[in-house]
Amino acid sequence: MKLLKIKNSKISGKVKISGAKNAALPLIAMTILAKNEIVINNIPNVADINTMLKLLKLLGSEIEFQNNTLKINTNSINSTTATYDIVKTMRASILTLGPLLARFKECKVSLPGGCAIGLRPVDLHIKALEKMGAEILIENGYIHAKCHELVGCEIIFDKITVTGTENIIMAAVLAKGETKILNAAKEPEVVQLCEILKENGVKIEGIGTSTLSIQGQTDLIEIKPFSVIPDRIEAGTYLCAGAIANSKLTITNIIPTHIENIISKLEEMNFSFEKNKNSVTILPTDEIKPVNIVTNEHPGFPTDMQAQFMAVATQANGVSTIEERLFENRFMHVAELNRLGADIKINGKVATIYGNKQLVGADVMATDLRASSALVLAGIIASGQTTIHRVYHLFRGYENLTEKLKNIGVDILLEEE
Ligand code: UD1
Repeated sequence: MKLLKIKNSKISGKVKISGAKNAALPLIAMTILAKNEIVINNIPNVADINTMLKLLKLLGSEIEFQNNTLKINTNSINSTTATYDIVKTMRASILTLGPLLARFKECKVSLPGGCAIGLRPVDLHIKALEKMGAEILIENGYIHAKCHELVGCEIIFDKITVTGTENIIMAAVLAKGETKILNAAKEPEVVQLCEILKENGVKIEGIGTSTLSIQGQTDLIEIKPFSVIPDRIEAGTYLCAGAIANSKLTITNIIPTHIENIISKLEEMNFSFEKNKNSVTILPTDEIKPVNIVTNEHPGFPTDMQAQFMAVATQANGVSTIEERLFENRFMHVAELNRLGADIKINGKVATIYGNKQLVGADVMATDLRASSALVLAGIIASGQTTIHRVYHLFRGYENLTEKLKNIGVDILLEEE
């Protein structure tokens, strides 16, 4: 197992943001609906993507992945079972359920278990597919789905779900007639999935709104080459590096509108920005102000940025609060930040962060992807050395993390435990 050693560092410079993992995952699953070899550019080379590619390969797809470009042909798929050993390493494997069922009329996908941040059930995915005519049995830990054909209908999601919306969009492409999704997720990753489908001939209306209408078709789709959108969470994480170190830092290769919710919270914390078409620079401030954050579905403040802001709030001049509304157990980083000298108290869904704390390096444990990035941020400003154990979580979602941090001046070393 690997660990990261980070020393107190001064940072400056530029970071080029990679493609979005959470956009690439559904787009790779979408290739199951295609009849041609597809070329996708700007795919981040991170562990979660490699897990998804391993899954598609095990199903029988032909895959070539080099220099962030994927060539994939799903015509050779000869199995429709996503096994436990893959799904347990990555919950997003559930994204193959909709397209596999729609194309092959039968599939088995291991039921994802709970995870570090909460129970995370997939009941809404299942309920929606049942409404579209699927017969679903949960047996031996697997979701066994079958249908004669999927039939378009009206799906009202009880809760907004990102991968649930994506799964049903993909299933709807090969369903009979129109599928209407109400209370759909509006995250930029969902929008890109819809746009790519639309550009390639699928009739979709309401893109970017909470009501989507998808016209089913009988033919598989032919998909032209395209590029994955930049990763807004990676972008936000590096902006938080600039914020916590109170240093000038530029992020390039971004879509600024996707990170407006992140930038506006940093503005509330008294940071200012130079904004350009594809880049943003965070500028240092005289005083980091405390902030109140409530996580919410897009365009609200992203839960995937909550831990990083908590690290920044330890340096604010006053008391900040963060309320986590999406996941029930997403405060695992609090105990670790407190080990570094932070003063954070949890009361139910709300964390209260007392600012002006000098952090001091220590050994800490990474618990999930974004929690780990908060520890990296804290490590940059903690005095002495911070050692982060179980860093594999970080490599699930941050491409070239150590190199990117070294380039902006972070004294960081990846070592075997
Ligand atoms: C996606 C993102 C993840 C992000 C999350 C919320 C990917 C691969 N992952 O996860 O990084 O943190 O959105 O923005 O895109 N729920 C149910 N039943 C369901 C589905 C969801 O109760 O069938 C609940 C969840 O437990 C959670 C909430 O709905 O409380 C939102 O979850 P959801 O949007 O589905 O998250 P993911 O799609 O798994």
